[in-house]
Amino acid sequence: MRFLIPYLTFLLITNGIYSDKSNIKTWNTLTVQKVPIMDSLVAIELGRHLFYDPILSRDSSISCSTCHQQQLAFTDGLKTSIGIKQQRVSRNSPTLVNFENQPLFLLDGVNPSLQAQTLVPIQEHKEFDFHILLVVERLKNSAFYTLLSKKAYGIEPNEYIYAHSIATFEKTFVSNKSPFDQYRQGDKNALSESQKRGMNIFTQKLYCTKCHFGNNFTNYSLTNNGLYEAYADSGRMRLTELEQDRAIFKTPTLRNIGVTAPYMHNGSLPTLQEVIEHYATGGKNHKHKSEIIQPFTLTPKEKTDLINFLHSLTDQTFISNPDFSNPF
Ligand code: HEC
Ligand code: HEC
Repeated sequence: MRFLIPYLTFLLITNGIYSDKSNIKTWNTLTVQKVPIMDSLVAIELGRHLFYDPILSRDSSISCSTCHQQQLAFTDGLKTSIGIKQQRVSRNSPTLVNFENQPLFLLDGVNPSLQAQTLVPIQEHKEFDFHILLVVERLKNSAFYTLLSKKAYGIEPNEYIYAHSIATFEKTFVSNKSPFDQYRQGDKNALSESQKRGMNIFTQKLYCTKCHFGNNFTNYSLTNNGLYEAYADSGRMRLTELEQDRAIFKTPTLRNIGVTAPYMHNGSLPTLQEVIEHYATGGKNHKHKSEIIQPFTLTPKEKTDLINFLHSLTDQTFISNPDFSNPF
C-alpha cells in the first residue's frame, strides 16, 4: 500500500511530562514536515523494532516493552512501572489497545497525540533518560535502521520517522476477538451463562456504562471515581493548574482488563474483586467524585458474574498475535 501522509505534525515535549517537577506546559512545536510514506508495512516493522529496542534508553538497558508487555496487553503487572536504573515511576502502566479513535493519551489525558506520546519516555529521567536527537544519532549510525527508514520513508531516520513509525506500529494493536466480541457478532455460546448475567449487571443494573461505554468500554471522559478523599497524584491539574482538575483522570478502557492487574492510576487495587468492592461502597468522598458513582449491593454470586463478564473482554489472539511480538 502506498500513500502520502500530507503533514506530520506533533509536539516535541521538551520537559518530562509525568515527573512532578517538570513544566509540562513547555512544549515546542516542531516545524511541520512532509513525510512521504513509501511502504507502510515497512514503517510498521520499523516501529516494531524501535518498540522492542533498548537503544532508546540512555544506557541501552530498557525498551518500551519493559513496561508494555504483550502477554499482559502491554502493561507490566507492577503497581507502578520501573524505568532506567531501577527507578520507580509514579503511575501504573496502561494497556495499549485500539488507538484508532482515542482522543487523549496518558492517564489524565494531558497528551493529545499518539505520536507526541512516543517522545515522552525518551526524556523522562526515570524512563529512558535520553534525548530524541541522540536517539536519532543512534538510528542513523545503524545500517539496519537506515535501511528500513529508506525503504519505508525514502530518507534517513529522523525524529519524525521515529515518532511516526512507532505510532503506526501501535495503531496496529487492534483487539476485537474476545469472547465478548464473538458473542456480539452472533455466537451466542461465546459467553457462559454467568458471563451473560454479568453483562446485564454491568450494562443494566449498575451504572458502569455511563463511563465505560462503546467499543473500547470508555467514553474517554475526564472524571473522578472516588478512589481517595485526598490524592497524592494531582491528575490533570498538573497540566491545567486548575483546582477543578485536581484528581481528574481519563476513564480507561476495560478491554483485556483480566490480564492488566493491578488497577487504577497507581495500581492500588490488586484484583477485579477489589475494584467491584470499591465501586460498591460508592467511593471516597472527593469533592470531584462523579455523581454517577453511588453505593450498590450485589450478592456474592452477582459479583462473580460481573467479574466473569469482565474476563470475557480478554482477547487471547491479541495478547499472542505474533505480529506484535519481539522481532529480535
Ligand atoms: C518505565 C516504564 C515505561 C516505559 C519505558 C514506557 N512507558 Fe509508556 N507508559 C508508562 C506509564 C507509567 C504510562 C502512564 C503515564 C502517565 O499517565 O503519566 C505510559 C503511557 C503510555 C501511553 C499512553 C496510553 C494511553 O492510553 O493513554 C502510550 C501510548 C505509551 N505509554 C507508549 C510507550 C512507548 C511507545 C514507549 C517507548 C517509546 C513507552 N511507552 C515506554 C510506562 C512506560
Ligand atoms: C464516572 C465515570 C465512571 C464510572 C461510572 C465507572 N468508572 Fe470505572 N473508572 C473510571 C475512572 C476515571 C477510572 C480510573 C481511575 C484512576 O485511575 O484513578 C476507572 C477505572 C476502572 C477500572 C480499572 C481500569 C484500569 O485499567 O486500571 C475498572 C476495572 C473499572 N473502572 C470498572 C468499573 C465498573 C465495573 C464500573 C461500574 C460499577 C465502573 N468502572 C464505573 C470512571 C468510571
